[in-house]
Amino acid sequence: MDSQNTQTDNSTEFRYIDGRRFHNVETATYPLPNDDDELDRLHLQHFLLRYIWQSNFSAPIKHILSNPDIKILDVGCGAGSWSFDMATTYPLFEVVGIDISPLQPTQIKPKNFKFVKANVFDGLPFENNTFDFVFQRYMITGCAKEKWPYLINELVRVLKPGGFLEVCLFKKKLILNLFTY
Ligand SMILES: C[S@@+](CC[C@H](N)C(=O)[O-])C[C@H]1O[C@@H](n2cnc3c(N)ncnc32)[C@H](O)[C@@H]1O
Repeated sequence: MDSQNTQTDNSTEFRYIDGRRFHNVETATYPLPNDDDELDRLHLQHFLLRYIWQSNFSAPIKHILSNPDIKILDVGCGAGSWSFDMATTYPLFEVVGIDISPLQPTQIKPKNFKFVKANVFDGLPFENNTFDFVFQRYMITGCAKEKWPYLINELVRVLKPGGFLEVCLFKKKLILNLFTY
């Protein structure tokens, strides 16, 4: 990174390096950008994954899908692709997305979606036993190996007894290959 090409915008929400926009949270190590190109990539990735799996989740939650009052949490929700998709498909659910950066549209969004800006490593800002389903996808580059136990404990803490947790990762070897080639 070239510090001469680094600048922070007035709101201090983001910083810019070599023409790309990044989060500006001192305590977060997440390295990827969060500008329009990245949000487009995340949306495309979401629809590709949904097509490949023919579903938005793998957890065995089909039995709760027709219940009202279901609360789900999307941790590191990014552009909101998964959250918006779930909130639209299940309008009776309450869908909460958290992220270090507010990246989702604020005007056009499902009424049952709420965004909370938070760093998961400061602790999830929810009471114990709050959610029926907690989902986290591809936050791997933002979580150092030694922080996983803390993170998993937090994800489980906010789950209701009998709730479901789904964490989607990709193989580290794949990332290494991507950076090596
Ligand atoms: C690769 S994106 C995935 C977004 C979304 N889960 C999806 O599948 O489209 C990872 C997201 O995690 C967020 N993130 C990284 N570190 C975080 C942290 N410590 N707390 C909250 N969100 C974080 C990033 O801002 C980014 O939006």
